[in-house]
Amino acid sequence: MKSLLLAIESSCDDSSIAIICTKSLKCVFYQKISQESEHSGFGGVVPELASRLHTKALCDICAKAKPFFSQLCAVAVTTTPGLSVSLLGGITLAKTLSSELKIPLISTNHLLGHIYSLFLDKSHDFSGLGVLLVSGGHTMVIDMDEGHPKVLSSTLDDSFGESFDKVAKMLGMGYPGGLLIQNLALKAKAKNLSFTLPMQRSKSLDYSFSGLKNQVRLKILQTPDLDEEQKAEIAYAFEEAATNHILDKLKRLFAKRRFASFGVVGGAGANLCLRQKLALLCKAYDTRLVCAPLEFCSDNALMIARTACEQYKQKDFADIKEELLFSKPL
Ligand code: KG4
Ligand code: ZN
Repeated sequence: MKSLLLAIESSCDDSSIAIICTKSLKCVFYQKISQESEHSGFGGVVPELASRLHTKALCDICAKAKPFFSQLCAVAVTTTPGLSVSLLGGITLAKTLSSELKIPLISTNHLLGHIYSLFLDKSHDFSGLGVLLVSGGHTMVIDMDEGHPKVLSSTLDDSFGESFDKVAKMLGMGYPGGLLIQNLALKAKAKNLSFTLPMQRSKSLDYSFSGLKNQVRLKILQTPDLDEEQKAEIAYAFEEAATNHILDKLKRLFAKRRFASFGVVGGAGANLCLRQKLALLCKAYDTRLVCAPLEFCSDNALMIARTACEQYKQKDFADIKEELLFSKPL
């Protein structure tokens, strides 16, 4: 019996293909080609460039995955959310494989994929689970307890990861900015600077990062010819404020809602300062902190394959004749 599932991820600037066994959840093939260096000089993802790079990268990875084609039982692809021109590259490849190999096609939600990155090689357990999803495009807290995602709070403007990217750009650094800012902050010696936490007086559990970004912008404007130490101090103060903002709202949520376990997923979930603060919060509330593996926090096809395994079991198949773009809401 054919039991391998191939998944394609191309929602933003990473081209990735994974093949896992639907029975054992074991990964037999995985590759990801990141476009970070190509977009770095632009301070963000250029959709037209991303689309062209996906076309080449997906073909190259697909050629390497070919030895497994005869054992495939299904093909899955990220269809929502993401850049349409990037998603379309993956969707077209998935439709071609589905049609040529005569196997079912599965349309998978990228955000659900990030949630499943907590359970890549094991069966999932959603009971009592809360999840913080922080990526370049999203910042949300999700209740998974009922077995399906219920969004409890989200950002009103920029996302957590995006704010790191924008601050890095303002400081003349590359893209993506998350790891660059995290590493620069570690070099700060003087820690006298601080930024005001967003939405402190509001009872809302939602997030906002655009005001904090503007505080950083003003600080940079006020200090011409910033030296490395001053840049590090700004990076440190920004990272403190951004992570404390996440924690401030989570503390309010934890005070009224008990989670048996709490997960952190998404590219920006790799932030070590955020992870340390979440560990303290979870300890205080006797909640088990579960983190996606660092390598699989950022976009990857393995989390899509893992999600699609559940869809395969439920025969949640897509119609190849449908457009499929943005067809799978959370
Ligand atoms: O999940 P992801 O790979 O792509 C999206 O779905 O958006 O997340 C990418 C985002 C970028 O904004 C990047 O700067 C951020 O994750 N990121 C980080 C760190 N590593 C990546 N943000 C803060 N600290 C990090 N260590
Ligand atoms: Zn993502």
